[in-house]
Amino acid sequence: MSNIVWHHHKITRAERAANKKQKPCLLWFTGLSGSGKSTIANALDVALHERGYHTFLLDGDNVRHALCKDLGFSDDDRVENIRRIGEVSKLFADAGLIVLSAFISPFTSDRRLVRNLFPAGEFIEVFMDTPLDTCEERDPKGLYEKARAGEIKDFTGVDSPYEAPERPEVRLDTATMTIDECVNALIDFLVNSELIR
Ligand code: PPS
Repeated sequence: MSNIVWHHHKITRAERAANKKQKPCLLWFTGLSGSGKSTIANALDVALHERGYHTFLLDGDNVRHALCKDLGFSDDDRVENIRRIGEVSKLFADAGLIVLSAFISPFTSDRRLVRNLFPAGEFIEVFMDTPLDTCEERDPKGLYEKARAGEIKDFTGVDSPYEAPERPEVRLDTATMTIDECVNALIDFLVNSELIR
């Protein structure tokens, strides 16, 4: 990029996070619409907040009302959506927060791009491995019905692909696990990884 020079801050990310009972990190929730991304991310957000941790939650529908309101659901737009959210997530983590981001993020390469913005161990891919049948049965926003009727084009799982993570740090299936079980699994992961104490 011409004529733009990177400015190094006086306080590093490590200094900003030193002596806190949490380490900055990004929990990246990926999965089909209706797989429980927002529900579990919100429940974890509450549980961490109640325990005194400093968190921030970004999620699909909300971000698409503002930061990404110019983007639709073509492959190119989804790539740009995840790129922007990855960068924003990194800024919040640089500020020392535990960031929870809940987006379908259907493409492996985009999720890898976000992972590569983070130091090893600070990007936690949480795969909401809820079967499509269950998501479609729930259909909380009536979107699957519309997609099957051809009223919505490029709907993930119907006529747009979802590339499932092969080695996520955490795999959750809300068809068989309760909200509390999912939250506890995530808290255990954060403790065992020494991201919170
Ligand atoms: S993506 O693929 O990561 O860019 O999508 P994301 O930003 O997470 O937005 C997903 C939410 O948008 C609604 N919606 C659609 N989802 C998938 N495909 C199509 N075509 C579509 N149109 C609208 C839907 O409510 C998604 O929210 P969730 O919470 O996943 O159900």
